[in-house]
Amino acid sequence: MFITFEGIEGCGKSTQAELLRDYLQAMGYSVTLTLEPGGSRLGTELRRLLLSLESTDLSREAELFLYLADRAQHVHQVIRPALEAGGVVISDRFIHSTLAYQGYGRDMDVDVLQRMNSVAVDGTLPDLTFLLDMSPQAGLRRALSRNMEKSIASSEGRFEAEALDFHIRVRKGYLELASKEQERIVILDAQESPETVFKSVREKVDQALGIN
Ligand code: TYD
Repeated sequence: MFITFEGIEGCGKSTQAELLRDYLQAMGYSVTLTLEPGGSRLGTELRRLLLSLESTDLSREAELFLYLADRAQHVHQVIRPALEAGGVVISDRFIHSTLAYQGYGRDMDVDVLQRMNSVAVDGTLPDLTFLLDMSPQAGLRRALSRNMEKSIASSEGRFEAEALDFHIRVRKGYLELASKEQERIVILDAQESPETVFKSVREKVDQALGIN
């Protein structure tokens, strides 16, 4: 089973992904928790490049290819082997991030991006995707205070520094994608407490894995 978490900055994806990993491990599943960008060895390098403030003159096309290269290597080296070994894979971001950020945020053609995603993942698609939905204002507040706490403002702050209307487009994009893929994408209200959000995540995963 392949599960992904999506949403704008500060929506609490990483927390939910970790809670789900702990829960499924306690149930005896072999779980791989991973992320994009950065889930493979090559990805660690690409993540540093992509998120650093110094890459702000990156063209949107070059940026897209770096995310896709990260994804292709991530699927090849980490996700597919773990799924083939019978494990559960949880990824913090995957294909829908490209559709929402590059498609809606950077105004690139979503149908073309869908096809480029298909090349990158070569048939490996999530069974279940959680979209943690919240207002960009609230999300950015959370993301900025987290960056300050962890002192990562200068190395990973490129997206947080985007204008608010960029994040508003990304959120709208995610909601549109979710309405088109209702069988895969579950929308959750990320403004609820992490415990409340996780309760919904757990219910859905229990159902999908036949845990009762
Ligand atoms: P990350 O630290 O994972 O996000 P967050 O702070 O929300 O946990 O940073 C990833 C950034 O990269 C995030 O701003 C979204 C962006 N991104 C894209 O634009 N396209 C993509 O395909 C992916 C995977 C991420």
